[in-house]
Amino acid sequence: TFPKQVKIVEVGARDGLQNEKTIVPTPIKIKLIDMLSEAGLPVIEATSFVSPKWVPQMADNAEVLKGIRKFPGISYPVLTPNIKGFQAAVAAGAEEVSVFGAASEQFTRKNTNCSIDESLQRSDEILRAARAAGIPVRGYVSCVLGCPYEGKISPAKVAEVAKKMYSMGCYEISLGDTIGVGTPGVMKDMLSAVMREVPVAALAVHCHDTYGQALANTLMALQMGVSVVDSSVAGLGGCPYAQGASGNLATEDLVYMLSGLGIHTGVNLQKLLEAGAFICQALNRKTCSKVAQATCKL
Ligand code: HMG
Ligand code: MG
Repeated sequence: TFPKQVKIVEVGARDGLQNEKTIVPTPIKIKLIDMLSEAGLPVIEATSFVSPKWVPQMADNAEVLKGIRKFPGISYPVLTPNIKGFQAAVAAGAEEVSVFGAASEQFTRKNTNCSIDESLQRSDEILRAARAAGIPVRGYVSCVLGCPYEGKISPAKVAEVAKKMYSMGCYEISLGDTIGVGTPGVMKDMLSAVMREVPVAALAVHCHDTYGQALANTLMALQMGVSVVDSSVAGLGGCPYAQGASGNLATEDLVYMLSGLGIHTGVNLQKLLEAGAFICQALNRKTCSKVAQATCKL
């Protein structure tokens, strides 16, 4: 049975844009986020406070966070890799942050220049500071269905890292198929293992669509009781430190499917399509959302 309601976490402004080679002007990012707010998305990841040497696209993080309209009832979390990023995020007005780790040693090294253990320590440091400041923290685990450097990742390893992040105090754990290689059967095995350690109500899935499996994998997770799904407007996305990874599940396609299933999201598809058209025009590229492509022909 499916959940009655699904919370969509829109990651287009962060995951979507971080992989863009040419720097997107700050006002465009702000307008995109404002349009996503207008569309009724309940959670919009706004930017990341990572090192600008590592991800130059996110160097305007403070301007973006300060420039957006903050709608009541919508949260605007930002990604923070270490305490330095956390402090900068709070100084810029962040009211929620996300920490990120992975179930793969080699990916953790490439993405954050440290081991899994060190990465968990950094997250723990952020969680302690966040608790003192009353700031909720979401946790990401990357490479849950495969790693660009290590290949297969065992469900037990994913469950171990997810459990640690949850025990540290992350209110939600987002399980990322960073390179979009998973299929529904693998998703099922991974989730079964994780659900033994973390309550399903605290789990989210974050599927990239490299192999065209994102919607199917998400559907499997919904069938297993997951009710929080990450997606990206126009299917933008990718990780600069995961070779060959392409965009996230398109939010338009997710909303269309959920609406067909009679599952409530609170998102206005028309306004979402407008936000997708806006950012695709700004990036001078075609949308990756099938729903947006179909609508164009109507
Ligand atoms: P490092 O080079 O080991 O760090 O990077 P360091 O401590 O040696 O610092 C190097 C320089 O960066 C120093 O500056 C620091 O001050 C500065 P310098 O003294 O040379 O002038 N620095 C910072 N500046 C701004 N903000 C900060 C910060 N920290 C250090 N927070 C570090 C380590 C973690 C910083 C780096 O590896 C990093 O920023 N990595 C982030 C990579 C990233 O953003 N990846 C994409 C996000 S994850 C993802 O997309 C997956 C996800 O979508 C889920 C999924 O799909 O699976 C979430
Ligand atoms: Mg991602």
